[in-house]
Amino acid sequence: MVDRKANIGVVGLAVMGSNLARNLASREGNTVAVFNRSPGRTDELVEEHPEAEFVAATTYEEFAASLSTPRTAIIMVQAGKGTDAVIDELVKVFEPGDIIVDGGNAFFKDTIRREKAVRETGINFVGAGISGGEEGALKGPSIMPGGSAEAYETLGPILASIAAIAEGEPCVTHVGTDGAGHFVKMIHNGIEYADMQLIAEAYDLIRRGTGKSPAEIADIFAEWNKGELESYLIEITAEVLRQVDAETGTPLVDVILDQAGAKGTGAWTVQTALDLGIPVSGIAEAVFARSLSSKPAQRAAASDLPGPTEAWTVDDSDGTSTDTFIEDVRLALYASKMIAYAQGFDEIVAGAEEYGWDIHKGDIAKIWRGGCIIRAQFLNRITEAYAENSDLPTLLVAPYFRDAITGAEPSWRRVVSTAATAGIPSPAFSSSLSYYDGLRADRLPASLIQGQRDFFGAHTYKRIDKEGTFHTLWSGDRTEISS
Ligand SMILES: NC(=O)c1ccc[n+]([C@@H]2O[C@H](COP(=O)([O-])OP(=O)(O)OC[C@H]3O[C@@H](n4cnc5c(N)ncnc54)[C@H](OP(=O)(O)O)[C@@H]3O)[C@@H](O)[C@H]2O)c1
Repeated sequence: MVDRKANIGVVGLAVMGSNLARNLASREGNTVAVFNRSPGRTDELVEEHPEAEFVAATTYEEFAASLSTPRTAIIMVQAGKGTDAVIDELVKVFEPGDIIVDGGNAFFKDTIRREKAVRETGINFVGAGISGGEEGALKGPSIMPGGSAEAYETLGPILASIAAIAEGEPCVTHVGTDGAGHFVKMIHNGIEYADMQLIAEAYDLIRRGTGKSPAEIADIFAEWNKGELESYLIEITAEVLRQVDAETGTPLVDVILDQAGAKGTGAWTVQTALDLGIPVSGIAEAVFARSLSSKPAQRAAASDLPGPTEAWTVDDSDGTSTDTFIEDVRLALYASKMIAYAQGFDEIVAGAEEYGWDIHKGDIAKIWRGGCIIRAQFLNRITEAYAENSDLPTLLVAPYFRDAITGAEPSWRRVVSTAATAGIPSPAFSSSLSYYDGLRADRLPASLIQGQRDFFGAHTYKRIDKEGTFHTLWSGDRTEISS
């Protein structure tokens, strides 16, 4: 029998759950109950961390009995079937008013479904996106909870106690109802894919163009990290590039197989964007670039297809071109990064509209400033932009972003054209620039597409000079009729 009551419980004690439980236990006022399907993990955690004074349970009944009411439990188990299995068990032993939090990487539509089903029992269900990996879970993640405002009243202070702190504020906010938290976490991951791909393209261009070693490029990234690009991903890029493989003595980046893995949240972001009709081209290219990298047979078969015959390098005969090129790449990276965030926020706006969430975009940028993988200085600029005008049609027209893109644009074009001429793949840089040019164009060839659609499918079109819908009698006398 359990004799101590806990104010919070954690179910699922693999790397994320055990770190989150330790984080919770380290905060003043918390007593943490822990439970894992296989008791071995629970025993191990309790044994290794006596300082946490966990209340360990071996059954769901014991776990429920160990929690003070209203009971609050965070599930950190394998997303999908594991989450459903744990919810089914907790619902049996919890009571109306209790709170079940899913802190795993659930797809937001599953969270909407689960919230609806659990709500019918009177129990609150909160889908909370948690970012920051295992270190974040232990030291302070960025937390994106959804669910009801009522549940957040109890849960908010507990989450705030374990979240990362950025500029004095905890990186947690009530994102919106039901699946809003997991939706925003999904977009976070999508932006993370784009950010990583852009950094990888910048590295590749500098390496191939200047012949600098990974360690030298690490110094460049470390320098960039002191300016407007300052971010966790730029910081760790320098660390990875500096790492030397102990076995071969060569840079680690040169012995790592060049096939990038993915766990699917980037693909969810793109699939959802397609459903919502939002062009997240930078994120999509990042997801596709990982897919392409992971096709060794196709890559081998295509390796002798024609391309530029001479390997390209920067002509540095004037002694300054290398530095100019590196600065161009830095600015192209910054401009493309702005596009990725602008597209991600467009998807948040569209999701909020579709699913009825009152999402405060500036607050989302704020809670991403600490604890999470995309944490960056730059997020302050996004918060400021939305504070000035919460209805911005696109982030890119906010004064800061307009000015920053204006400064970067010539460099961005030079880098994309250099990459194309040199035969160096730059899918995220190039697609971001194309998106930018598409957005700012007075007129797009979409008019021709409308003409084609009307030709083969009588899909009709609108005109720029009068109201109404029209169709040309393509297989008849080609006169135009109103339809
Ligand atoms: N790893 C990261 O960096 C990271 C970052 C953010 C979010 N997340 C998310 O956090 C969650 C936990 O991640 P993780 O890497 O710590 O663990 P994981 O490998 O995703 O899952 C293992 C845990 O799930 C439990 N589990 C699986 N199926 C179960 C079932 N049917 N019933 C009860 N428990 C079940 C396992 O229990 P047993 O010990 O009994 O097998 C174990 O505790 C996941 O949703 C993950 O996507 C992970």
